[in-house]
Amino acid sequence: MQAGDRTDPKAVMRMLNLEIVKNYDELSDRAAAKVAALVKEKRDAVLGLATGATPEGMYARLVRMHRAEEVSFSSVTTFNLDEYESLPPGHPQSYHYYMHRHFFSHINISPQRINIPLCSGLSVEAFCLDYDSRIEAAGGIDLQILGIGSNGHVGFNEPANSLLLGTHLVELAEETIRDNSRHFDSPGDVPRRAITMGIGSIMQAGEIVLLASGKGKARAIADSLSGRVTTAVPASLLQLHPRVTFIIDKEAASIIEP
Ligand code: PGA
Repeated sequence: MQAGDRTDPKAVMRMLNLEIVKNYDELSDRAAAKVAALVKEKRDAVLGLATGATPEGMYARLVRMHRAEEVSFSSVTTFNLDEYESLPPGHPQSYHYYMHRHFFSHINISPQRINIPLCSGLSVEAFCLDYDSRIEAAGGIDLQILGIGSNGHVGFNEPANSLLLGTHLVELAEETIRDNSRHFDSPGDVPRRAITMGIGSIMQAGEIVLLASGKGKARAIADSLSGRVTTAVPASLLQLHPRVTFIIDKEAASIIEP
């Protein structure tokens, strides 16, 4: 960075919708309310969904709303962002397992409308092209929910010299393997590769909501909202999206709003 080329972070934040909430519960309430509002307005909405610890509270609330008959998912289509390449869907750490455990088994979604990367029976290349065609055939994603990695990744689009637009196979960054090792017996058990939706499919979503909670995300959030767009911080590309909301708790905001 050169002297004087820093954008005023306050100016960036005015350009984006930034909601700084008190804590994780409030973050989950806000995120669930956004999803529910869309699904009530558009019964056949196409949702882009994320896994990880961050959206668990959002899914729990959506399940509760569904049980209270406030929201129906019968005509909704979903596309998940990513999946480990080597884990079978029944593996407890697979994102297939996660999605069914936290969300799909508790709501009235039609199984044919659930899309999660998995390339059994197809070459990876053929699978990735097919996944992108399915997103396109569904009319694109109306609302994309994102988490953020401590290294600024979105989906598994890891920091790199260039990013790919379409769904692809990716080598996970060391930081991601370290972060995700908490879910496995040892870091050696974390898969090294994953299939992820590309940055193009994410950026083409009608609306994006990024969720971040905790101090561990504060640096990534500050780097994503710095006014600089760089593939070294994939989430910084979101600054170019016309309808993006960052819903983050106070701890995740602790660098931008100390
Ligand atoms: P987390 O993961 O919600 O478990 O922190 C987020 C991510 O890596 O995108």
